[in-house]
Amino acid sequence: MQDHLKQLSDHLKQFKKRASDSINRDDLEKLRVEFIGRKGLIASLFKQIGSLPPEIKGRFGQELNAFKQYAQERIDSISRELDSDSGTTDIDVTLPARLPLLGTLHPLTLMEREIKSIFSKMGFTIERGPEVEDTWHLFDALNTPEWHPSRDPSDTFYLEDGSVLRTETSPVQIRVMQERKPPIRIVAPGRVFRNDKPDATHSPFFSQLEGLYVDKGVTFSDLKGTVLEFYKHIFGKSVKTRFRPHFFPFTEPSAEVDVSCPFCNGKGCRICKRTGWIEMGGSGMVDPNVLNIVNIDPEIYTGWAFGLGIERLALLLYGIDDIRLFFENDIRFLMQFGGRR
Ligand code: DAH
Repeated sequence: MQDHLKQLSDHLKQFKKRASDSINRDDLEKLRVEFIGRKGLIASLFKQIGSLPPEIKGRFGQELNAFKQYAQERIDSISRELDSDSGTTDIDVTLPARLPLLGTLHPLTLMEREIKSIFSKMGFTIERGPEVEDTWHLFDALNTPEWHPSRDPSDTFYLEDGSVLRTETSPVQIRVMQERKPPIRIVAPGRVFRNDKPDATHSPFFSQLEGLYVDKGVTFSDLKGTVLEFYKHIFGKSVKTRFRPHFFPFTEPSAEVDVSCPFCNGKGCRICKRTGWIEMGGSGMVDPNVLNIVNIDPEIYTGWAFGLGIERLALLLYGIDDIRLFFENDIRFLMQFGGRR
């Protein structure tokens, strides 16, 4: 009589082995049909119960029920495992690959490159000067009087050794003219520093581009023509320029350069504050005092110079309303200039 119970436990062992060998749906389905299917082993064992000796019927029935329940649960759990595995094996190889995050040049770099490329096509070379200057190149050689506000420590960062963080790119004019003789035709982009509190339109550091042209017979109309040509490349052919008399220590006469507002074609809008004009920078004929300082004879040579703000141009061109965005390194801002994720 123990034979029946022994057989049952052999069937159970057999089932366990087959279950752990089931590695796919086909194996599992076969296992299910063989053991718990309607015509499977367990069903046929139930049918045998009636013909068993009465003293083992009870025990056999209990163990068979436990076997049946165990087999059902084991098959279900293998089935769930196969389901979750298929999540990782079921790869759609036709999907496009995920590309790595690709950065882009900073908007100010893009702006500077565009400006430089326009001036190089007009025959200007690109120069750079030091950000930490001496007061001679920054002020004295640029004919800046002792009383000029830009010398004031409340506007300008002085270092302990007496040198200064340049407040403008104009000293590059001096450095170039000290080294070379005319004809000189340069633009000099770079960082400048001023003791300004940051807000939407101010930053204690920003960048400028200086232009300088010195040769025999250079006139104010060359200045006007060159500056107009530049702004046409930037804002489009219909842009106009306006030169307003002004004062700069190193130019005489001096003028501020306005461009007709490219957003409303000079009619007046929010961006040009209803004036139709936008102020872009300073300019003028190089003061004879400056030429004398660098040993270029003002009786033989004349020249003009101009300066413009690179951020200012980028704010207008890219439609940005806060200069601080350029310096905060917020990737959501920077990615808009050609990055890819
Ligand atoms: N350096 C002046 C500034 O920062 C701008 C400027 C004005 C530059 C006149 C020039 C110039 O070269 O001729 O405000």
